Amino acid sequence: MTTSPPIRRLWRDVTLFDGMDTLPEPMAVIVEGGRIVRVMPSARLADDEAANCTLQGTGGVLTPGLVDCHTHLVFGGSRADEFESRLEGASYEEIARRGGGILSTVHATRAASEEALFQAAKSRLEALMREGVTTVEIKSGYGLSVADELKMLRVARRLGEALPVRVVTTLLGAHALPPEFKDDSNGYIDLVCREMIPAAAEQRLADAVDVFCEKIAFSVAQCERVFEAAEAHGLPIKAHAEQLSNLGGSAMAARHGALSADHIEYLDEAGVAALREAGSVAVLLPGAFHTLRETQLPPIAALREAGVPMAIATDANPGSSPLFMPTLMLNFACTLFRLTPREALAGMTAHGARALGLHRQSLGRIAEGAPADLCLWDAKTPAELAYAVQPGRLRQRIYQGVLTHG
Ligand code: NIG
Ligand code: FE
Repeated sequence: MTTSPPIRRLWRDVTLFDGMDTLPEPMAVIVEGGRIVRVMPSARLADDEAANCTLQGTGGVLTPGLVDCHTHLVFGGSRADEFESRLEGASYEEIARRGGGILSTVHATRAASEEALFQAAKSRLEALMREGVTTVEIKSGYGLSVADELKMLRVARRLGEALPVRVVTTLLGAHALPPEFKDDSNGYIDLVCREMIPAAAEQRLADAVDVFCEKIAFSVAQCERVFEAAEAHGLPIKAHAEQLSNLGGSAMAARHGALSADHIEYLDEAGVAALREAGSVAVLLPGAFHTLRETQLPPIAALREAGVPMAIATDANPGSSPLFMPTLMLNFACTLFRLTPREALAGMTAHGARALGLHRQSLGRIAEGAPADLCLWDAKTPAELAYAVQPGRLRQRIYQGVLTHG
């Protein structure tokens, strides 16, 4: 019996952004069995090696598949009415205090069937995938009861089974105080710690645990209790922190070895130092900054100076960032936050993967041994991907070595 040799796929003469840097000469990449097996200058590719491969693409810019490390893609309803209220002058905080905002999405999400949530999230996720996303993190946080949080996480898991994309799930039970616990936020934190986290862990529905540490959400002490419960169940942690004020949530999360602190517009020097010491990633969310017309910039220069890895994500959600376009975030990261195009791209590849704890498998990199998640773009330089907001430039999307677009 003969066995046919494994298929080796070749891209040659591409401009390669490897997740951290752009290589100086035209490159060749060979993929086999879902992994990258060779990365070398095209000029060094031997004829017999090329002859053993199926040529998959030439020219253009090749990057790792995009990693969107912070989204809230599963939700019911719409917040267009809140968008209009904010245009008339109401702030995000005021709307939340009135029982709108996140809680309005909670009502709609609780009322929606699992199938309806799945279908709606699927079309949002397909929009991200058409723009190059191969790994996406999806949070719960609009259920706020054990049953409804688990429902959201099941939808997120199912998305990863139904579509060619890697889905990482995060339990965000401590996102807002549900109406049943009005005036008893410690009681709700008890529920998160004693029931929600254990149930999500036992059913293997959550890959991490997140909190919203803010005056309109939960205190540093309450978030710390959530982290202790997550740790007891072996789950990594991350935090929405310093988005609207500086409470010190990022530093506390860093002390617990958080994968990331996200938003962080109000992060101070001590917070930057804490992230550096812990090796946590700073996840910057320019879509929320833009939508909320925030004026306080995250401390980019200090983060850069300290060498804290900066990731960029869509924060795709119905309230603070109804933006389902990762390439727009590359542009926003540069125009709003003054990142360089190189930093923005690293933020949606190598550093995005690090914010999910997936860098140990070289996810988000183009390197020998890394998973073969790749994007081939119609562009001359990687900087063009951040410079021009131009959907439809994705020529090929490769997920685990398989061409899924193009
Ligand atoms: O990342 N900051 C809190 N949570 C989300 C927004 C959720 C919402 O407004 O629905 C965020 O911005
Ligand atoms: Fe968020």
